[in-house]
Amino acid sequence: MRGALMAAAAAYLDKVIASPRFRRFAAGFPVLRPVARRRSKALFDLMAGFVYSQVLLAFTRLDLPNLLLEKPRSFEELMAWTQLDADHLRRLLKAAKALDLVSYRGPDIYGLGTVGRDLANNAAALSMIEHHAGFYADLNDPIALLTSEQKSTGLNDYWRYVSETEAIPEELAAKYSTLMSQSQEGLSEEIIDDYTMTGRRHILDVGGGDGTFLRCVAARVGPETALTLFDLPAVAETAKARLAERGLEGRISAVGGDFLTSDFPDAPDLVTLVRVLFDHPDRTVRPLLGRIRAALAPDGALLIAEPMSETRGGERIADAYFGFYLLAMGEGRVRTVDEHTALLKEAGFSRIRPLSCRMPHMIRLIEARP
Ligand SMILES: C[S@@+](CC[C@H](N)C(=O)[O-])C[C@H]1O[C@@H](n2cnc3c(N)ncnc32)[C@H](O)[C@@H]1O
Repeated sequence: MRGALMAAAAAYLDKVIASPRFRRFAAGFPVLRPVARRRSKALFDLMAGFVYSQVLLAFTRLDLPNLLLEKPRSFEELMAWTQLDADHLRRLLKAAKALDLVSYRGPDIYGLGTVGRDLANNAAALSMIEHHAGFYADLNDPIALLTSEQKSTGLNDYWRYVSETEAIPEELAAKYSTLMSQSQEGLSEEIIDDYTMTGRRHILDVGGGDGTFLRCVAARVGPETALTLFDLPAVAETAKARLAERGLEGRISAVGGDFLTSDFPDAPDLVTLVRVLFDHPDRTVRPLLGRIRAALAPDGALLIAEPMSETRGGERIADAYFGFYLLAMGEGRVRTVDEHTALLKEAGFSRIRPLSCRMPHMIRLIEARP
């Protein structure tokens, strides 16, 4: 009864607040004016988000974050660097200033703004901005994506393993592994800070990419812990080469195979799945979890690390950004902790616990034991 009343009141409020008369009243009434302004700005920002992203793309394609990190530059220096005419450069700089990418450091002298500082030297963000150019094209007709009318997308072609696991060209595997690796370094440190890896006999990282995560683990655990990466054959080859470049080929083994059909290396007592499950639909996740459960030592644990749906403060990243990224990519989805828990129980895990983490809006952790 109380719920129905609240719902009716909320529906009534929707109508009142959405009426042009109320908006005019709120904008003119001193107590409500700041709220009205905030709301109208929030709506505009949401509508204009794609423009802001394209300003960001222009700013990074012109390599301005790194140039301005070296030292602030005069307008003339920026003209010489960008080869833009004065009007267009001024327009770009004004937009970049409005988005806190640049700040004025003197008369017509430009340095980094607060967001620009976060961006400069940030290989992960810079490469994702460029990668988003393809994602942006895929989102051109969102209804076609939602109704599955748009069959092929740039992202689906890029992340080829979503539709086929055999014969992924090594060149493509190396390319996507590099992109993953750039965002992996910071995240790996967060995961290892949040979850103790020491004291294990054998850690197996399934879908481990080029080995960035296990490299970070290797720096924190002793030689008594064996480290194995498992990924598609083309990716495992990339990992082997990259580990060898760092002299880590004897410390971390890389095994190639398909996680749905190939045998996993013997009895690991910790299996990690870092940003793997959300790429796949339940019909892939179910057998994968079952196979991991069967391979795990009786005293072992599985650690899932990825963004999760309905995480307070992370809704925009998990549900809006990743929700649509995975839609464009194929059939993956961001799951809630409860959805993960249900799939883990089905796979035969019984002691399942979400762990507290430092950056839950980026990545959350669930530990599952048999
Ligand atoms: C999103 S990437 C994550 C890589 C890494 N864990 C990270 O967080 O950077 C997913 C990984 O799963 C691997 N993968 C996808 N399907 C696979 C399969 N059927 N068997 C083995 N690995 C697979 C991909 O090759 C890719 O390296």
